[in-house]
Amino acid sequence: MPKEDLTVLIIGSGGREHTISTAYEKSPNVKKIVVSPGNDFIAYKREKEVITDKNCSIRDPNSILDVARKYDPDLIDVAQDDALANGAVDILEKNGFVAFGPKKETARIEWDKRWSREFMQRHGISHPQFRYFEDEFTAEQYVEGLYSINPKRVLYVKAAGLCSGKGALKSSSLDEAIRNIRKMKNFPDRAGRVFLIEENLEGEEFSYYAISDGRTYKTFKSAQDNKTVFNFDEGNQTGGMGAVSPAMVTEPLKKEIEKQQISKAINGLFLEQNPFIGILYFGGIVINEKPMNIEYNARWGDPECQVVLPSIENDYLEIVRFCLEGKLNRLDIKQDNKTRVCLVGASRGYPNDYSSVKGKRIFNIDEAFKIEGVNVCGAGIKIVDRKMYANGGRLFNIVAEGRDILEARQKAYSAIALISIEGNNLHYRTDIGWRDVERFNQ
Ligand code: GLY
Repeated sequence: MPKEDLTVLIIGSGGREHTISTAYEKSPNVKKIVVSPGNDFIAYKREKEVITDKNCSIRDPNSILDVARKYDPDLIDVAQDDALANGAVDILEKNGFVAFGPKKETARIEWDKRWSREFMQRHGISHPQFRYFEDEFTAEQYVEGLYSINPKRVLYVKAAGLCSGKGALKSSSLDEAIRNIRKMKNFPDRAGRVFLIEENLEGEEFSYYAISDGRTYKTFKSAQDNKTVFNFDEGNQTGGMGAVSPAMVTEPLKKEIEKQQISKAINGLFLEQNPFIGILYFGGIVINEKPMNIEYNARWGDPECQVVLPSIENDYLEIVRFCLEGKLNRLDIKQDNKTRVCLVGASRGYPNDYSSVKGKRIFNIDEAFKIEGVNVCGAGIKIVDRKMYANGGRLFNIVAEGRDILEARQKAYSAIALISIEGNNLHYRTDIGWRDVERFNQ
């Protein structure tokens, strides 16, 4: 067959979108890639024509449509959660574009945590106990009741809307629970207008991914994200500070995940006339050797995508096309046996105030690239005259591969040790993968 010379537009701006662009770049049928809004590093040192276009706002689907009209792409991969939640796929399809990702009503499984928990109830999907609230007063009365029975209780106060991964607040005392309830009104876009109070579950968390054409699905390797800003799960929640793939998901657990969490979601959405077409992300926790639902998301995780997607040996464009044509059942997905570790390099101060780091020079990323088996993805980097500058909270990802966790981790930490930010302003966790190292050494 002759080469097709296609243009792919990817909507999003971080390390996840960089990784997705690399997957499409490998396809012989892709000639040009546009990432919008993107970040400067995505277009750095690429083999094919990869450009970024900042002229779109992720929450404004009309601005996404304008970018689509400018480049007239053959495929648009809507990779980012706010874009999905604001109906980017709906508007693009209505205007004749081929878009990959769930429509707004289907992506609700992610952007409305209350709806999502009620969906789980309707379809017998195991989840933590929860109650939802729309006013502080009733919620405070509820937690006062809980803490009067057990003052040592731990619970989560969770915004029902999208909060860039920072909407779930752990509460270990009545005072903290009340403070967290009061924080709900401060989330942007009224994401905490409705909020949930959920029981805390003790167990190890993991992420699991499936691509679905609405009726059937194929799964990918597992991963584990590290959400807090400091080592050993200390400090505030972030968008993710590092990831490892595969995670500790055993074969029997995989079967349970697919049966109890993936199949039930795909079938449930199909029955409710909202077939899920896109990447379904199951965030789970292992309780008594069974998977329990922390959340569903409607796209690849960031930074998990950075460690899962490179393991796929098929042409990613072909996988997405089979999905859009409703024939995933005819596809055999192959993944390699390597272990991957992703480290997130962030501005010191993230996720709180990191404004003083904006505009500081980032040094030596090119040296990290030179280590065999190491790749670098950009998340918040500005490039001016070939010099790199911090332009965000999460700045870049080091992704290293190895035959096992020891090799992948050693490469990742050797690479990040070469990089610095003016004024000692680089922050990263030094414990990513520690559980896997312990398991490996057992
Ligand atoms: N890694 C968490 C997320 O993407 O939501």
